[in-house]
Amino acid sequence: MNILENISLKPYNTFGIDKTARFFVVVKSVDELKGAIQWANHQKVNTLILGGGSNILLTQDQQALVIKIELEGIEVVREETDSVWVEVGAGINWHEFVLTSIENNWAGIENLSLIPGTVGASPMQNIGAYGVEIKDVFHSLKALNMDTLELEEFEAERCAFGYRESVFKHDLKGKYVISSVIFRLGKTPTFHTEYGAIRETLEASGIKDLSIKAISDAVIHIRQSKLPDPKEIGNAGSFFKNPTIPVTHYSSLKQDYPLIPGFPLPDGVKVPAAWLIEQCGWKGKRFGDVGVHSKQPLVLVNYGNGDGADIKDLAEKIQQSVWDKFNVPIHPEVNFL
Ligand code: FAD
Ligand code: EPU
Repeated sequence: MNILENISLKPYNTFGIDKTARFFVVVKSVDELKGAIQWANHQKVNTLILGGGSNILLTQDQQALVIKIELEGIEVVREETDSVWVEVGAGINWHEFVLTSIENNWAGIENLSLIPGTVGASPMQNIGAYGVEIKDVFHSLKALNMDTLELEEFEAERCAFGYRESVFKHDLKGKYVISSVIFRLGKTPTFHTEYGAIRETLEASGIKDLSIKAISDAVIHIRQSKLPDPKEIGNAGSFFKNPTIPVTHYSSLKQDYPLIPGFPLPDGVKVPAAWLIEQCGWKGKRFGDVGVHSKQPLVLVNYGNGDGADIKDLAEKIQQSVWDKFNVPIHPEVNFL
C-alpha cells in the first residue's frame, strides 16, 4: 500500500480547489480498501472516500487519509430474455459505463450520459438527469462496513433513494464504502424522450430510427451546450437542489411572478432553483475567481484560483437572497468537506 503524504487535491476535484490531503492512497481492490481503513484506524486518523471529486467542495485542508476508489470491473452476472444484470466496480467512470452499455445494447442509462464521476458514487445521491434516475435501473450494491470490515449487500429499499438522496448521505453517512453496484438493464429499450430538450434535439438532428445511441448523443449535445466543462471552468454541476414548495405557496408566488415555472409533484410543486437564482440577479456574476455560470445559474464556478471558502460564502449569499425574495429555502446538492 502506497500511502502518500501532503498531496494537493486540486487534480482530484472538478471545482479545482487547491486543498491538501494529509494522507492519500489509491485503492484498486476490496483488500486494499480494507488495508487502508485499518491503517487509518491504527494511525487514529479519519478517512475520506473520494471518487471522481465531481460533487464535493473542499473548504479546508483534509487532515484525514483520503482514499481514492479505483475498483474496476464490468461483469454480466445474470441474464434473462429481457434483462441483463451487470455488476460494475465502484471506480469505473460513470460515462464509460454508459458507453459500454450502449455498445452492448443494454438500455436504461442512456439519458444519464456524460454525468461525471464514478459508478461507486452514483447511488450516493441517486444521480439523475433527463427524466431518469439510477434508482430506475438499480438492483443492489455491495458496500464495506467501515466498522466490521465486512461486505454487505444493499437492495433498493435499504438505500432509501430519493431526489438526489440516499441513506448514505444521512443515517449511514461515513459508515460504508460502496465497492460495486449491480444494475438491471433492458435488452429491449423503453425510450424516455419526453423530458427537457431531448425531443427537439432529436428532431433537429433528423433522426428517423430512435435508438439508445441517438438519445445518448442528444443528451451529450444538450449538456455540452449549457453546462461548463470542468476541464475548462471548475464546477460541480448543480450546486443546489431544486426545491419543492407547497401548492399554496406556489400559487401566491404565481400571482406576483406570473412567469415562475413549476412542475406539479405529489407533495407540492418543484420550482427550478436556476430560475429563482436568476431572478435574484446572480446569473453570470463574478467575484474575483469565483462566480455564477452565465448559461446556468445553478452552477457555481471557479475561474482558476478560487477558494472553497469563497464559493461557500457565495452559496450562502445566494441562499439568503432567494429566501428574502421568495421565502423559498434552497439546499446544496454538493457535499462540503
Ligand atoms: P465524489 O465527488 O468523489 O464524491 C461525492 C460524495 O460521495 C462524497 O461525499 C464521497 O465521500 C462519497 N463517495 C464517493 N465514492 C464513494 C464510494 N465508493 N463509497 C462511499 N462514498 C463515496 N449529478 C447528477 O445527479 N446529475 C447530473 O446531471 C449531474 N451533472 C453534473 C455535471 C457536471 C459538469 C458536474 C461537475 C457534476 C454533475 N453532477 C450531476 C454531480 C456528480 O457528477 C455526481 O454527483 C457524481 O455521482 C459524483 O461522483 P464522484 O465519483 O465524482 O463523487
Ligand atoms: N432556468 C432559468 N435560467 C437559466 C437556466 C434555467 O430560469 O439560465 C430554469 C428554466 O425554467 C429551465 C429550468 O430552470 O426550464 C430547468 O433548467 P435545466 O433543464 O437546465 O435543469 P436544472 O433543473 O437546472 C436539473 C438537474 C441537473 C440535470 C438537469 C437535466 C438538479 C439540481 N439539477 O438541472 O443535474 O442534469 O436537470 O435533467 O436537479 C446536477 O445534479 O449536478 C445536475 C447538473
